Amino acid sequence: MLLDAQPRPLSGKKIIVTSGPTHEPIDPVRYIANRSSGKQGHAIAAALAKLGADVRLVSGPVAIADPSGVKTVHVESAQEMRDAVEQLLPADAAVFVAAVADWRTENAAGEKIKKVADKGPPALQMVENPDILAGVGHHKQRPYLVVGFAAETQDVLKNAQAKLKKKGADFIVANDVSHEGGVMGGDRNRVRIVSKSDIDEWPDLTKEAVAERLADLIAKHLKTIEI
Ligand code: CTP
Ligand code: CA
Repeated sequence: MLLDAQPRPLSGKKIIVTSGPTHEPIDPVRYIANRSSGKQGHAIAAALAKLGADVRLVSGPVAIADPSGVKTVHVESAQEMRDAVEQLLPADAAVFVAAVADWRTENAAGEKIKKVADKGPPALQMVENPDILAGVGHHKQRPYLVVGFAAETQDVLKNAQAKLKKKGADFIVANDVSHEGGVMGGDRNRVRIVSKSDIDEWPDLTKEAVAERLADLIAKHLKTIEI
């Protein structure tokens, strides 16, 4: 008999998590990317699985391993991430941690772009990527609980509150990603949890500790919703 078995408050709950950066192709050998390591998103997926959730992680290209006990789908671009997330609906909750590229090139070249004498560098025409969180936050199959992140370098709270409303999220995890903080790629995170009625300031924690606290918060809220 397991006397000290871990409580599994999220058992039977399907939760989608996005993590990592996205890569937006320029041509077959080049892409636009960002500094996201996937550490925070993967830690959240692992923490939710530890509480018993059926976690579906949609991960952009990262150098870290798939978390154990989590079904992981690998994607490259924002459009692929959006399609993978939509295919996983319906779900009880969704947590959007990925640093999705805001723009992609309008037409990725089919062949490697060559330098041409006297022509100069290519002008990349950019278009906006779909907002995956906003799409799910306003979806007809919206999960009971929708959590987003807000990566900011200034006016953190104001911007987080605006994102909460615009994207139809229940919580925004606001973090300051200014270079000094070293959040992107680093092992620690200092966040504020913004909801419609509240701002909860968490101390400076490891990304694993942030993940555990967030998983507990999600479990508590799914319980109050009593699905
Ligand atoms: N997000 C998303 N799809 C996008 C852009 C962002 O799902 N195309 C999600 C992120 O995963 C995060 C939240 O939206 O949970 C906020 O991302 P962020 O980059 O902070 O905000 P943006 O809306 O992209 O605005 P900006 O970058 O201009 O601040
Ligand atoms: Ca963005």
